[in-house]
Amino acid sequence: MTKTPDHHNGERVIEIAPSILPCDFGRLGEELAALEEAGVDRIHWDVMDGVFVPNITIGAPVITSCRRYSTLPYEVHLMIVDPERYVAEFVDAGCELITVHAEATRHLHRTLGLIKSLGARAGVALNPATPLSAVEHVMDELDVLMIMTVNPGFGGQHYIEAMDAKILAAVALREATNPLVKIEVDGGVSEETLAGCVMNGAEILVSGSALLAHRGHLLAAVNNFHQLAQEAFTQRAR
Ligand code: DX5
Ligand code: ZN
Repeated sequence: MTKTPDHHNGERVIEIAPSILPCDFGRLGEELAALEEAGVDRIHWDVMDGVFVPNITIGAPVITSCRRYSTLPYEVHLMIVDPERYVAEFVDAGCELITVHAEATRHLHRTLGLIKSLGARAGVALNPATPLSAVEHVMDELDVLMIMTVNPGFGGQHYIEAMDAKILAAVALREATNPLVKIEVDGGVSEETLAGCVMNGAEILVSGSALLAHRGHLLAAVNNFHQLAQEAFTQRAR
């Protein structure tokens, strides 16, 4: 089965980023290698502190230990309070994109500047209820705007369809302020929901349970995700 990527300037137009949340944390290295082999574009590390979200996952040392198992870009989704305290640790662990929640840091503009000063790309995630106005004055500092399409803390939740309009509005905000910002969606992204996300303008798709449900035949699953995304992207471009 051939892969059907469509690349622009060497980058795939729509990127598939598996969340590590459903992975076997006792075999993370192997799981990462299998995901890379299957053709995913980047790895989405979900870091949770049990305070910002009612769940606890991993810290920077785990990412450091796993860095050697994959050559793919690592992005970290910091679902932690006061993320500025740990940004440097996650950059040192090998993450090239650091995404913080606008709701979790008192001084978002300063936190984004810190991330960039460390040579990483800066992302902001917005919970479903948080308006886009929370980032309208920092769009020039952003590389990625991530729209949560579930309430953060757990995998396997249903996609919140009300977020479709928010994705569209995020694209409009990006066009009006900083066309270089990439729009990412995270939560409930599956074969059933990803085309809609792409049609609305999402360019990086995080998927945990839907993608990892295909363990054992990941290549076919990742190809299907890329195929569905590419078809939706082509349709949107018409
Ligand atoms: C939720 C995480 C998501 C989640 C995605 O708080 O940020 O990345 O793991 O998992 P699915 O695709 O199962 O919703
Ligand atoms: Zn996430």
